[in-house]
Amino acid sequence: NRIEGSYSLVFLSEEQPDRLICAKKDNPLVIGLGKGENFIASDIPAIISKTRKTYILNDGEVAVVRADGVEVRNLQGERVDKKVFEVNWNAEAAEKGGYEHFMLKEIHEQPKAIRDTMSQRIAKDGKTIVMEELKWDKDFLDSVNKIAVVACGTAYHAGLVGKSYIEKLVRMPVEIDVASEFRYKDPIIDEKTLTIVVSQSGETSDTLAALKEAGRRGSRTLAITNVVGSSIAREADQVIYTWAGPEIAVASTKAYTTQLVAFFMLALYMAEIMGTQPAERITQLIDALRRLPDDVGRTFEDVDPLKTFARQYGFNEDAFFIGRSLDYNVAMEGSLKLKEISYIHAEAYAAGELKHGTIALVEDDTLIFALASQDFLFEKMLSNIEEVKTRGARVVGIAKKSQNAIQSKADEVIFIPDCADEITPLLTVVPLQLFAYYVAKRRGTNVDKPKNLAKSVTVE
Ligand code: M6R
Repeated sequence: NRIEGSYSLVFLSEEQPDRLICAKKDNPLVIGLGKGENFIASDIPAIISKTRKTYILNDGEVAVVRADGVEVRNLQGERVDKKVFEVNWNAEAAEKGGYEHFMLKEIHEQPKAIRDTMSQRIAKDGKTIVMEELKWDKDFLDSVNKIAVVACGTAYHAGLVGKSYIEKLVRMPVEIDVASEFRYKDPIIDEKTLTIVVSQSGETSDTLAALKEAGRRGSRTLAITNVVGSSIAREADQVIYTWAGPEIAVASTKAYTTQLVAFFMLALYMAEIMGTQPAERITQLIDALRRLPDDVGRTFEDVDPLKTFARQYGFNEDAFFIGRSLDYNVAMEGSLKLKEISYIHAEAYAAGELKHGTIALVEDDTLIFALASQDFLFEKMLSNIEEVKTRGARVVGIAKKSQNAIQSKADEVIFIPDCADEITPLLTVVPLQLFAYYVAKRRGTNVDKPKNLAKSVTVE
């Protein structure tokens, strides 16, 4: 009762060596229930090779764990009747499955992860989105006048794309903040706000604190998370789970693409309820979504050019990623991937903003990834590519197959399958993930556990 702050603690006493006592607040803690043995861990992947039966400890609960039993009490000393939470992933899913690194395995799992995330949420006739977990209606959405999206890192980048989806398809204003800023900015939110937090792990301390802050200010809350029973899932009013399966590599890949799918489906669902898009447009976009797992699979067909770029540019000191609109959002994710696992200085810029300062950094052989997948901005991107080429940059363009005019502008081009503009973030990000991976491998860094980083950031 006297401890302040966030913690997960396990105590062992010399006098009673047959028991461990554990408690938590704001940080995760799970208890694995075995036969004649029990386990305490910070998250489920650590114990699934031992048992699938778990107790997930809540804030203010204290557990006494012995080899032959677990007893949970609250801070008043009363016994708590815990429900056993049965994990449905298998141990093999948490192993590398033949890939050299978890990151590479997880990149290749994206078609399946996307399929799993969307499969139960498209009506049998393929025409509407079903969100059993939400059951919203027009009255509910009429009572929301603003959405606030809050997340960190890659989940924040997914939120940026989500903001675009909701604004474009639902015409509802969306604000977005990184969680560590949101907490301290005295956010303008109230009971008319819907706050959406995004977190793969569901345990990120800043995101959890932001979620609590939103709740305190009366906002309705929705979490998009990948981990069932995580702290964020339990704290939010409602949850949309991404079904990406366990993500082990520190660099987030399949969590990002499934978060985009969750946002896209949410936006379509809201647009249906609000009648902000014609039914045919919604059906077309659902069709595009259904083709997506195969399209993502196609981006793995020829990765040799990416390996070649990694050989050519793997020891560059800087890299830039430019794009407009959704491409700019993906550029941010591409840049984060490269810096976090290869330790190359990488920056993302809105292509139209370069001339306001950053172009001063472009010189002979500066590596620039230019994302040009948005049809309505394609010509503008070609001009931006020319702008940096004139200053000596080496440009790798990423565009849809039909946008082959890019070949005459960029030094190298990676094509993605033709698709609706809204879908491209799920495709253009894949070569960027793979490029970061091959560069990291070439530089010999620890791909799955890059220096200074942790998978779950459970400290502020
Ligand atoms: O588990 P979360 O989605 O809340 O994690 C948020 C960030 O810490 C995470 O996305 C981080 O940026 C990744 N390492 C990026 O690859």
